[in-house]
Amino acid sequence: MATGTRMSARALLSMTGDLGAEAVAYTELAGRIRTLISDGRIPVDTRLPSERELASLARRSRTTIVATYQALRDSGHLVSRQGSGSRATLPHLADVSKRPPRAVNFAGSIPPPVDGLRELIAETTADLPDITTFPGFDLVGHDALRHALAERYTQRGLPTSRDQIIVTTGGQHAIALTAHTLVSRGDVALVESPTYPHAYEALQRAGARLVASPVTTDGWDVEHLLATIRQTRPVVAYLIPDFHNPTGASMAPEDRARLAHTARAAGTTLVIDEATVDLNIDRPWDDGPFARHSARDAWSDGSGVITLGSLSKSIWSGLRIGWIRADEAVVRRLVQARPAGDLGTPPIEQLIGERVIRRFDELVLGRQRLLHQHRAVLSEALTRRLPQWATPWPDGGLSMWVRLDRPGSSALTSICRARGLSLIAGPKFSIDGSLERHLRIPFTSPVEELDAGVALLAEAWNQLSTGTLAPAIGREAASVIQEVPSAGIAPQRLSRATSR
Ligand SMILES: Cc1ncc(COP(=O)(O)O)c(C=O)c1O
Repeated sequence: MATGTRMSARALLSMTGDLGAEAVAYTELAGRIRTLISDGRIPVDTRLPSERELASLARRSRTTIVATYQALRDSGHLVSRQGSGSRATLPHLADVSKRPPRAVNFAGSIPPPVDGLRELIAETTADLPDITTFPGFDLVGHDALRHALAERYTQRGLPTSRDQIIVTTGGQHAIALTAHTLVSRGDVALVESPTYPHAYEALQRAGARLVASPVTTDGWDVEHLLATIRQTRPVVAYLIPDFHNPTGASMAPEDRARLAHTARAAGTTLVIDEATVDLNIDRPWDDGPFARHSARDAWSDGSGVITLGSLSKSIWSGLRIGWIRADEAVVRRLVQARPAGDLGTPPIEQLIGERVIRRFDELVLGRQRLLHQHRAVLSEALTRRLPQWATPWPDGGLSMWVRLDRPGSSALTSICRARGLSLIAGPKFSIDGSLERHLRIPFTSPVEELDAGVALLAEAWNQLSTGTLAPAIGREAASVIQEVPSAGIAPQRLSRATSR
């Protein structure tokens, strides 16, 4: 939701979660809304629904809602003005003006353009064919790029034809298009917890009822994953088996084979996001594309594995080149469904994309070198400044999924944001608002920023831990830490994810 916009009571209640039949005290509702404001899911300046509208839709007394809004005003999360309603704010925003802004961005895991890309773009554009002869609306993508992608899958052990590829406008578009094409309102979709947030948002938007299965930095609870698929028979399961975002874990080859088999038996289509598959730093094995494990069984009914790819993480996100590899029948369905959201990927980017794919192995080495160096810098800074945190050592990917010594991820990110360090709190990566003990810290920023960012983090965490923040911040932080929000749709059983 954009800053400054008005939020309906329905949208707010969909984020706070079902309040249930039993009376929920105003402190709890206030707590849930406070968390949403603190971790940015309700942006500052968003206009909240009127007390009357919220009371009526939530089926609570007006008094409860009046008290809820008052509690939010007291903790500095809401300002109400006659005529302009009640707007979300943060208690320590005033602090920002007193401090010199040190903008450090740990919110996105966005690596810089890979070395050699600038030259490759210059070559491509110097050599440009007359692109006005290309189709204006190109729903499936350029032949040459699809061919290059198919060849790369084939070389990596998964025979693929050009007709099994559709080029998309980035990986996020690939996720959204797949979700809209495969999921109907009310269908069950399985996701990992934690997972890439914009993926579960796309599934929710397509009408999916989500169930979740846990992943930690040690990997998947495979028995839980397979049992959940057998029990709930989801229409799709969205998974990131290589250098998982945010944990960095990779699924063992033997587990992939079991997963492919179980999903097939349950009639579940596996949507395998391989946007991060090439971000290997020092993982000693490469199992090739996940779909190899299901390619042994032939089918053409559209069930099976759908693979999503992207150049964003390995090369540069500004290219907006993604793709989907699927059964030909599925590709036809995707192409048919595409015009509702998008009419094609721009041609120049596709021409660049084709050259990138042809020189991929050489280009990606630069990315792997950068990640190797940045992982060491971040790890050293965290161990030195925040030794009380459990800092994992991922063998690939773009970030560390850090375990804090106690819950407080939302409070911490909220304080850091006001001090110029943007970060995403752990709960954003789960569908139920849990994971307050975790924080994703990307190692994609420039090296100097990694250290400056960790210094800001350590200062904020130590102040939060010792209660030496300004009174308004301390109050707010304490209330965020105490609550365990239960927004969203409850996952099946999240024992491992929530207890670790
Ligand atoms: C796992 C994963 N998939 C897909 C995407 C989407 O990337 P893009 O749309 O830039 O290709 C991201 C971006 O962070 C991601 O982490």
